[in-house]
Amino acid sequence: MKEFGNTAHKPPVAVVDGDSTHRDALAGALAAFYDVVGYGDSIQALEDMASQPPDVVILDEWVPPDGGLKLLQTFRGIDTLAAIPVICTSAETGVEFFPSARGMGVSITLNKPIKFSQLLSSISAQVNRAAEKEWDKIEPVQQSALKKTITIFNTIPDLIDAGKPLPYGEVKDSCEPLVAAVTSNQYKDLLRNVRGHDNYSYVHSLRVATFLSLFGNTIGIEGGDLMVLSTGGLVHDIGKMSIPCGVLNKPGKLEGSEWDVMKSHVNVTIHCLEDSPDIPKGVITIASQHHEKLDGSGYPKGLSGTDLNDLARMATIVDIFGALTDRRCYKDPVPPEKALAIMLDMKDALDRELLMLFREMLLDAATDAD
Ligand SMILES: [Fe+2]
Ligand SMILES: [Fe+2]
Repeated sequence: MKEFGNTAHKPPVAVVDGDSTHRDALAGALAAFYDVVGYGDSIQALEDMASQPPDVVILDEWVPPDGGLKLLQTFRGIDTLAAIPVICTSAETGVEFFPSARGMGVSITLNKPIKFSQLLSSISAQVNRAAEKEWDKIEPVQQSALKKTITIFNTIPDLIDAGKPLPYGEVKDSCEPLVAAVTSNQYKDLLRNVRGHDNYSYVHSLRVATFLSLFGNTIGIEGGDLMVLSTGGLVHDIGKMSIPCGVLNKPGKLEGSEWDVMKSHVNVTIHCLEDSPDIPKGVITIASQHHEKLDGSGYPKGLSGTDLNDLARMATIVDIFGALTDRRCYKDPVPPEKALAIMLDMKDALDRELLMLFREMLLDAATDAD
């Protein structure tokens, strides 16, 4: 059942910097997000990277013995490293280094001291560019599902910041190939190829949208109702984009007030969706009730039993399965079989009948030939 998990490893990132204090600090801070290797000299860096190229290199101006620029020139002449994304850093102003690096295709240059959030988003952008390039290799319907959904997803933070409503028509349009991929049983490459993406929220939302569509399709939901499941899955957590990274990515247990902030993503999502013209009621139900549980132990309202319709019950099952099998910076993914076992242990919290159908669907799909 491995296609339903997220077994992608953390993207490998190399930090090449002659300043050991800076290099270790950077490598330590990035370790939660990436598989980081630090190098203090060009010779070792070159030897290792030529045989195992990282996804991104952070290259400082000062690297013994000949400096970062010389190393960059050498990279560009080696087949396996020629196109590798490089982010250049400098403790000086980089007046000579940066323009020369840009001339060799480097698009991101950062002066020390580096703002960590800026570095993180720069690495992410490079990892995502490489991951999205891989999408060109898959079937058009799955490729279109990924490309259209990431395009709409990337516009959402700005809409939330500006207090603008979500353009539901565009969300629907982006989910059409996703629904087509699911109904024609061509969704597995889509799930495999989203794993390498570095935007956790997008990966989670796309997986939830796919599993919800698949679930709906399996139990006979079609047409506009299937679209509600797909779009509802894609936008169910958009309020998380307003949660500070420190809370969203915190390793370990959230403290009381942090947990309140995390839970607030549901109301932020509802607020954003309710202002959207033409939004179907079912999409609001998925977004507002995907953390509610049948036994009343969920949030934000603690709804229970018949307060929760099948749509809400399906959304909760799929969201929990998606979250357990997601890779996060603070946890490895739980294998799909184990995630289902954990969910079966949740006794009265989840709709047993729907959960058994969901499990059966995954087992059947896993044994299906592509
Ligand atoms: Fe959520
Ligand atoms: Fe979620």
